[in-house]
Amino acid sequence: MKIAICPGSFDPVTLGHMDIIRRASLLFDRVIVVVMSNAAKSPLFTQVERMDLLRRAIEAEGIEGVMVDCYDGLLADYAKMRNATAIVKGLRAMSDFEYEFQMALTNRKLNAEAETVFLTTTADHMYLSSSLVKQVARLGGEISDFVPACILSDITEKLRKEQQQ
Ligand code: PNS
Repeated sequence: MKIAICPGSFDPVTLGHMDIIRRASLLFDRVIVVVMSNAAKSPLFTQVERMDLLRRAIEAEGIEGVMVDCYDGLLADYAKMRNATAIVKGLRAMSDFEYEFQMALTNRKLNAEAETVFLTTTADHMYLSSSLVKQVARLGGEISDFVPACILSDITEKLRKEQQQ
């Protein structure tokens, strides 16, 4: 059985993430979407909330063979623990490349059993990121073209609470 890991901070999951998860599910027997910490980011949603948003979005899209998990340690260790042979990442533009390349080489050094596989995003999602979604939503912009419909109200509600604090 070929197991792939789809790691990310998913704060929150976007349509770009969903596209990569769906395409990974067609390539591997089992895909584990794992919510992780990115040392460079401070998340809006808790780990549990991000997992819930992902689960609902995956169910709403009817994507099969995918489970959602979280992990606080190294991605390389998680891949080892799950016997994963692939780490699937979405590659948007050249700006992603250097950082992703650095992570792929580090992960290979830490766990040679797991190959990093890059899927290029579709042109529609080239510009999309969770940070952009939050920025637009915080300023009252429309984000329905960017995130799964079933999580739209979670984002607006979360930002409403944030602004009240
Ligand atoms: O969605 P993101 O924020 O680009 O995802 C980055 C993420 C979470 C995959 C990356 O920061 C990561 O792998 N974090 C786990 C800790 C780890 O293994 N760090 C070393 C990476 S080489």
